[in-house]
Amino acid sequence: MNKQIDKVVVVGAGLMGTGIAHAFASCGYTTVLVDSNAEALQRAQQAVSKILDDGVKLGKVEAVAAEASKARLTVLTDLTAAAQGAVLLVETVSENLAVKKAVIAQAAAVMAADAIIATNTSALSVTEIATAVSGPERVVGMHFFNPVHKMKLVELVRGLATSDDTVARTRAYCDAIGKTSIIVNESPGLTTSRMSALAGNEAMWMLQEGTATAEDIDTALRMGFNHPMGPLELGDMTGWDTRLAVLKYLHSTLGEKFRPCPLIIKMVAAGRYGRKTGHGVYKYENGQRVPGSGMKASAL
Ligand SMILES: NC(=O)c1ccc[n+]([C@@H]2O[C@H](COP(=O)([O-])OP(=O)(O)OC[C@H]3O[C@@H](n4cnc5c(N)ncnc54)[C@H](O)[C@@H]3O)[C@@H](O)[C@H]2O)c1
Repeated sequence: MNKQIDKVVVVGAGLMGTGIAHAFASCGYTTVLVDSNAEALQRAQQAVSKILDDGVKLGKVEAVAAEASKARLTVLTDLTAAAQGAVLLVETVSENLAVKKAVIAQAAAVMAADAIIATNTSALSVTEIATAVSGPERVVGMHFFNPVHKMKLVELVRGLATSDDTVARTRAYCDAIGKTSIIVNESPGLTTSRMSALAGNEAMWMLQEGTATAEDIDTALRMGFNHPMGPLELGDMTGWDTRLAVLKYLHSTLGEKFRPCPLIIKMVAAGRYGRKTGHGVYKYENGQRVPGSGMKASAL
C-alpha cells in the first residue's frame, strides 16, 4: 500500500459515496468519485469541501491539509476512465443488484486482476454481486456507516469466494483511513442492518398503531437505552427508500419478522424518504428538523 500513488475509486456520489470519498481523500489517497449524474458529483464535491472547512473551523484539521485533501479528490462521470489503474474500487450506487453488478463488471474489465472491488451494499449478497466479475475472490463487502466522517465502524463482509488476502488487504485500507473493521461471514443484513431494520420497522408499527408519538418513541430509545439517536430519526437520516429495500430483502431471506410496516410503504410512495427529501417522519427546513413536526398517528 502506498498512499502517494494508490488510486481509490468510489462509485456513487450519494449520501454514502460522498462520505467515503472524503474518508480516502482526507487520509492521503488519490481519490476519484464517479456518478452517472453530474449534478450529484457537484453536490458531493461541495459536501466534501464543507466537511473539510468545518473541520478547519473547529480546529480539527489544518487549513493546508484541508486544501490538499480537496485537491486529491476529482470527480468523473466516465467509470471506465476512472477505474483504470485503481487499486481499490468501492461501489456505493443505489441498492439494486442489477445496477451494482453492471457497475463492477464495467470497472473490473479495466482493473488489474489483484485490485480489490468492494461493495457498500447494506443487505444484498456479496457472493451474488461478485458473480459479475471474473476473479470473485477480489470482491468483498465494505459496509460503512452514515455519516461516514463521524462513524468509525466498517463491516468487512466475506462472500463465499472472497479470499483471505482480499480481507486482509481491505482491513489494512480500513486501518489507513482510521476505521475499525469487524469481519462478518455473509448473512442477510450482516450484524448491524439486521438489528437496525428490525428496530426501525417496529418503531413504525408503534407509530402506525398510535402507541406513542414519533418524538416519544425516539426519546424512549435515546433516554432509556442511551442510543445516540431514536429509530425514527435514524430512519429519516438513512432514507426510508433505502430502509424499505433492505426490509424487503430481509423479509424474503429471513422471514416474516421483517415484513415491512405498511406505513413505510406508504411514505415511500409519497416520496417522504426523510432528510434527503425534506420530509420523512419529521419535516426539515434548511437541513434542520422542524420542532413538533413528527408524524401523528391520528393523521395516518
Ligand atoms: N444510507 C445509508 O445510511 C447507508 C449506509 C450503509 C450502506 N448504504 C448503501 O450504500 C449504497 C448507496 O446508498 P446512498 O444512501 O448513498 O444512496 P443515494 O441514493 O444517496 O446515492 C446513490 C448514488 O448512486 C448513483 N448511481 C446510481 N446508478 C449509478 C450507476 N450505474 N453509475 C454511477 N452512479 C450511479 C446515483 O446517481 C446516486 O448519486 C446502497 O447500496 C446502500 O444500501 C447506505
